[in-house]
Amino acid sequence: MKILVTGGAGYVGSHCVRGLCDAGHDVVVFDNLCHGHAAAVDSRASLVRGDLADANALRTLLAVGEFAGAMHFAAFLDVNESVRDPLKYYENNVINTIHLLRRLSDAGVRRFVFSSTCATYGEPERCPITEDIPQGPINPYGHTKLAMEWAMRDSAAAWGLGGCALRYFNAAGASADATIGEDHDPEIHLIPIVLQVALGQREQVKIFGTDYPTPDGTCQRDYIHVEDLASAHVRAIETQEEGVFRYFNVGTGNGTSVREIIEAARAVTGHAIPAEETPRRAGDPPALYADPTKIKTELGWSPKHTDIGRIVETAWAWHQSHPKGYDD
Ligand code: UFG
Repeated sequence: MKILVTGGAGYVGSHCVRGLCDAGHDVVVFDNLCHGHAAAVDSRASLVRGDLADANALRTLLAVGEFAGAMHFAAFLDVNESVRDPLKYYENNVINTIHLLRRLSDAGVRRFVFSSTCATYGEPERCPITEDIPQGPINPYGHTKLAMEWAMRDSAAAWGLGGCALRYFNAAGASADATIGEDHDPEIHLIPIVLQVALGQREQVKIFGTDYPTPDGTCQRDYIHVEDLASAHVRAIETQEEGVFRYFNVGTGNGTSVREIIEAARAVTGHAIPAEETPRRAGDPPALYADPTKIKTELGWSPKHTDIGRIVETAWAWHQSHPKGYDD
């Protein structure tokens, strides 16, 4: 299939591009490179530098070839920034996605896979989270992602969009060959921060809150390997039918605490990784981990990486070989 991938130069997007190429698909990446990296794009895919806000650029691109589907990763993802500057998030994550859906509708593209998030559940009433738990995001980032799930659901009914929202838990790790990995600026995520301490780029990691109602007092998250996320996307687009809206949690089902991540990183790197206990970070739910039964049953997908040590090991291999991230 010929597949358009917006944000295909980003962390999750670039791994999905590789997964699509491995599965024999013809991939065109559309990315403005504001956060993505040209070097992360698989050489088998073509890269078009452009912005989703530029309707003409998208129209021209979609007119050139018969695209069978699109995957949409281009979005902002910093929860704290979304609280400070919500309109930035509504503009990019909502308005630009609506533009994209319009262009896909005009071009007759009906398969669409969307990066949604466990943040759409807000503070869920129970864990593990099944998809039928009411969604109630607690920050603008989560609101923008939920708004797009609604737009997809309504578009499926109105004009035959075949949409799949994949609600990721915490994307983690790097490609098995350590050639692509996580490079955000600024870095806000736990695992890369911990590994930057191991590399001597930071003095210590802060543990945001030790008084949560969890076994060791620190927040639990479901760290899903980025290559497992990629295989979920490939399954989703290959099986998507027109006029149907689907949604799946994509996680391992394991809750791993902040302390457990730091311990895993100490074991993998051999570095002491000093940690300072600090007050809670605003807006962090105590525990977020998936019940992945639905995606396992309906898509026949299951994660290959379930051991957190192994996941951290792949991230460490990437960080060691790319201590300054990508060169661009
Ligand atoms: N944490 C620390 N110290 C740090 C960084 C993070 O203790 O320096 C903690 C956080 O408080 C949290 C856990 O580590 O408990 C994971 O934090 P991340 O920032 O790595 O990830 P989040 O769980 O906050 O965010 C992820 C995605 C978001 C998504 C969110 C849903 O990155 O895009 O899950 O909750 F919105």
